[in-house]
Amino acid sequence: MQIKVETRPVRTMETEALVSYVFEEENPIRGRATELDQAAGGALRKLAASGELTGKALEMTLVHYPSAAAAQRILLVGAGKREKYNLADLRKIAGAALRYLKGRKVSGFVFLAREDDANAAAAQVITEALLVANFESDKYKTDKKNDEDVDAVGLAGFDASAAEAGIARGRIIAEAQNFTRELVNEPSNRMTPRMLAERAAAMARESGLACEILDEKRIEELKMGALLSVAQGSGEPPRMIVITYTPPQARPGAPVIGLVGKAVTFDTGGISIKPAEGMEKMKYDMAGGATMLGVMRALAQLKPAVKVIAVVPATENMPGGRAQKPGDVQISMAGKSIEVINTDAEGRLILADGIAYAKQLGATHLMDAATLTGAIVVALANVNVGVFGSDAAFTERLLASARAAGEKMWPMPLDDDYREMIKSSIADIQNVGSGKGGGAITAAMFLKEFADQTPWIHLDIAGTAWLDEAKPWAAKGASGVAVRTLVDVVMNWSSDQK
Ligand code: BES
Ligand code: ZN
Ligand code: ZN
Repeated sequence: MQIKVETRPVRTMETEALVSYVFEEENPIRGRATELDQAAGGALRKLAASGELTGKALEMTLVHYPSAAAAQRILLVGAGKREKYNLADLRKIAGAALRYLKGRKVSGFVFLAREDDANAAAAQVITEALLVANFESDKYKTDKKNDEDVDAVGLAGFDASAAEAGIARGRIIAEAQNFTRELVNEPSNRMTPRMLAERAAAMARESGLACEILDEKRIEELKMGALLSVAQGSGEPPRMIVITYTPPQARPGAPVIGLVGKAVTFDTGGISIKPAEGMEKMKYDMAGGATMLGVMRALAQLKPAVKVIAVVPATENMPGGRAQKPGDVQISMAGKSIEVINTDAEGRLILADGIAYAKQLGATHLMDAATLTGAIVVALANVNVGVFGSDAAFTERLLASARAAGEKMWPMPLDDDYREMIKSSIADIQNVGSGKGGGAITAAMFLKEFADQTPWIHLDIAGTAWLDEAKPWAAKGASGVAVRTLVDVVMNWSSDQK
């Protein structure tokens, strides 16, 4: 999809649709929206006066063949209350407008920003929203209902150079998020650990990033016993994907960010097998890994001044004849022994070795993303990402980035008291919590043991990486959650360093 700055006067724009937004109780319509009202021959004011147009969040008012405009349609999207309005609302407005028009076979339109949004940050948000909204999950449908993507959008109401900057940055970030979504949407027979590694290597090659794929032999040599224990139940061999971004001005002793992502390309649960109902969804258990690959793709283009290493352990979790069994003890790369009480708690096992390896490669600050627990869905539903951090300042940075990126994330506790729950009677640690409750927290506590003294943040995206139903602004399927936030953390880090 093309996105360009549009500078023609509103009334003369020949386009399939002219889109803008109005606030609740904005009656009569004010400011820049009055241009649209004039273009509609006063129809919008009348609709507002009659109560049909209220400005309630994401209300859609479509006027066909406006009498005083060259445009074929005017679409006015409700923006909700002005006092509560922010860029997260603008993101939804732009995305929902695109999907609404796309459903009406519109292939191009102009989006007119309001006065207060005539800046680079808003242009970036709109661009991201449009590209994310245009993405569909119907790759394997031969009869593509949503085939007709929108192919051109003009952004109006901006100072051209500010808009250009926002569009360029927004495109990089949205394309990275969609890259992640593409990987996550693939079924497990088309996204085995080896295939994921190939896709990662191809992305790295195209992006100019260094990439190393460790095969099962190297994984064994490096004594990654926790990753191997999960992989041993499958006929598909595991891979450890390592992608490195090195800034042009790398300084010795500078911090190195390690991004570790869980990539279980299918999670049957192993011998602790999952129920059949809903098991097909466990193809998205590689979303954490795909998130980190998307982040690296964006960073390659945004070129931060900080070194970043992505480490993505990839495996299936299968109940094959050689599968590990409940009660088995495994020795992780870090040397810690783990009693595997439940083979379905496999994510933390592979992340244990991923974290250890990222540290060995020099990471001084760690962030991981994983579809780790059903318990995070109990705690936060499908709304917020669960955020666990060992370092208050680092965690606060991440939460600030989440707000800036328009992604809902919520801090969770990591008190030492929870450590008791993952004590094993025969090994250093066990892979599930004893007693009741706190499943997302005990999982995070397990990871913390491996991060140890290195500042670390864990994102549990089990509830947010997949949309069971479409949103007005996004197709159902993979959401690509956390890509934007993590890119923002790294970019802010970079500008603070300079
Ligand atoms: N991949 C699952 C977590 C998950 C659940 C992701 C629902 C997405 C949606 C993970 O490997 C798992 O099975 N966790 C277990 C842990 C338990 C055995 C301690 C869980 O959450 O039930
Ligand atoms: Zn599992
Ligand atoms: Zn899993």
